[in-house]
Parts: sequence; structure tokens; C-alpha cells
Amino acid sequence: MENAILEQKAPAHIPVMTQEVIDYLITREDGLYVDATLGLGGHTKSILNSTNYKSRIIGLDVDEEAITIAGNNLSKYKSNIIFRNSNFSDIDRVLLDLERGEVDGIVADLGMSSFQLDSSGRGFSLIRDEQLDMRMDARLRFTAFDLINEMSVDEISKVLKVYGEERWSRRIAKRIVSTRNDKPINTSAELANLVFEAIPKKFHPQRIHPATKTFQAFRIAVNHELDSIEEFIGKAIPFLKTGGRLVIISFHSLEDRLVKKLFNNLSSPCICPPDLPMCGCGKRSELNILTRSPLIPSEAEIANNPRSRSAKMRVGEKL
Ligand SMILES: C[S@@+](CC[C@H](N)C(=O)[O-])C[C@H]1O[C@@H](n2cnc3c(N)ncnc32)[C@H](O)[C@@H]1O
Repeated sequence: MENAILEQKAPAHIPVMTQEVIDYLITREDGLYVDATLGLGGHTKSILNSTNYKSRIIGLDVDEEAITIAGNNLSKYKSNIIFRNSNFSDIDRVLLDLERGEVDGIVADLGMSSFQLDSSGRGFSLIRDEQLDMRMDARLRFTAFDLINEMSVDEISKVLKVYGEERWSRRIAKRIVSTRNDKPINTSAELANLVFEAIPKKFHPQRIHPATKTFQAFRIAVNHELDSIEEFIGKAIPFLKTGGRLVIISFHSLEDRLVKKLFNNLSSPCICPPDLPMCGCGKRSELNILTRSPLIPSEAEIANNPRSRSAKMRVGEKL
């Protein structure tokens, strides 16, 4: 019954840059791959399809509802897939527990699914009026409501600046605290309206809602998103076979800059200061970067799926 309700709640999620994922990720038709962000199963289905159902996939998602929906969407292929309701920052533990050894490729399609944004009811979208939760993982202790209603002006301002790159962070933080002095800020619409009013009209962005950066910032803070990405990339490399690919799709500049920095670090053979006569760090290059600049969706894909427009894909190959 619960599955049927979730299935009805779940709109179609159009997977992003599917052909590029397949082209870069798949090195063996009968390989073992990790879909670290299973979502509604779109990429997993395409991988299975393009490998004539000979590949096997370990599918992770931190969102239990996503795992349930993906399980329904992929019910025909269940013998090819192992589902795990886990954070990709725990990829090492998941793979060790499964005792499958190294894998042929790992893909992560960061951010949120259409289900989470449009129908999870968790306050991710600024165009809906929902309780401010924003947790992808229901096991997390603090919701967006907790952060918004309990943090100080300084703390909120820092979250907005660091995770939203919001120029008006302090003004918005002050407005949040003065508003909640009257009554708690409960819903996404209340937050969106308050930010709309806090930013001077003439500085409202043209193409996005003025609260977009605020929503992004609280979502990143609630879900520890950047820390998880950093942990994930570091832990994933030792589990890749030589020649195996790590494919990462990000959706905003903070994510993409982090992925770029981590890839550069993994590909660099030595991190000694340049004036040192000999290498003393002993570091060796672990990753060959296959995409010097990130791949982006084609115009046709963006026209068909406007949500793909900010996607950037980076790929590394294990050395
Ligand atoms: C953009 S969607 C993936 C969509 C999927 N590729 C598809 O085609 O259906 C991102 C998914 O990653 C999940 N996610 C986000 N952060 C995660 C993390 N740290 N660990 C595991 N899953 C995560 C979200 O819950 C969401 O379901």
C-alpha cells in the first residue's frame, strides 16, 4: 500500500546526460557498477539497457522513499540490482559488507530528484507551501526548520554566504531572526516570501526567484552535502578497478568546483612545494582526468528537460 502511494507521488524523473554517462562509465558489458545516487532509477535502467542486462548494479540512495520508488520502477531488473539505503559517503562500508571486491565504474548524479523537489512534501521547492524539512535522509537529526528557527544571525549568515554564495546573507539572516521572534518560520512559502522582501527589489535576480540561493544553502547545510561529496570521492577511488571510471554530475558551482578540486588533487603526482629539490610527499597520481573541462548537456537535451541546464559532468579514470 505504502509503495502504491509513493508510486503515485513520484513524477517521472528524466535522467540527465544519459548517453554521456553510458559512454564514459561502461567499460565492460558484464561489469559491476555503482549508481551512488539511484534516485528514481533512471540512470540504472539506462546502464542495464545499454549492457543488454548483463551488468550488475549496486544502487545507493540516502532517501528511503527514493529506494522504494526505484525498487518499483526497476522491479523487472531486480536480479541485476542490489539496493542500499545509504549515504554515498559510506560507499566503503557498503562495498566491504557486500564482499564484491573492486567495481568497474561509479556514477553519482548529485542533488535532488524530481520526486524530492515536486512531491516529497519536504519543503525543497520554493514554489510550494510545505513544512520546512529538507532532509533527504529521514535519519538526520536536524531539519531546515531547526536550523532556521534556532541558529543565530551570524550562523545563518555564514550558511547563506558559504553554501548559497548569497550577497545579501546578513540582511536575510536578520530578517529570519526578527520574523521568528513573532512566530516560528514553518513553511517553504514563509521562507521564500521573507527572503523576497529582505532583498531590495532592484537587486532581485532576473531569471531565478530571489530565494533560490537561500533554499540551496539550507538544503546543503541540512544534508551536509559538500562533506559527503568529499568523503565519497576519497573513499570511492580504492574500490575502482584500474581503468574503471568515476562519473560525477553536479548542478551548481559549489559542487562542481569541489569535484574539480578533488579530481585535480587525485590526478596530481606530487603535492610538495615547488621549491623542494626532491619529492618528499610520496604521493602518486591515482586518477586520469578524462574531461579537462566539464561536459554539459546538448541544446536538444536542455530543450527537452530544462532541469538539465545547469548539469556539469566530470569523469576520471582510475590509474
Ligand atoms: C538527481 S537525483 C538522481 C536521479 C537518478 N540518477 C535517476 O536517474 O533517477 C539525486 C539522488 O541522489 C540522492 N542523494 C543525494 N545525496 C546523496 C548522498 N550523499 N548519498 C546517497 N544518495 C544521495 C538523492 O536522495 C536523490 O534521490
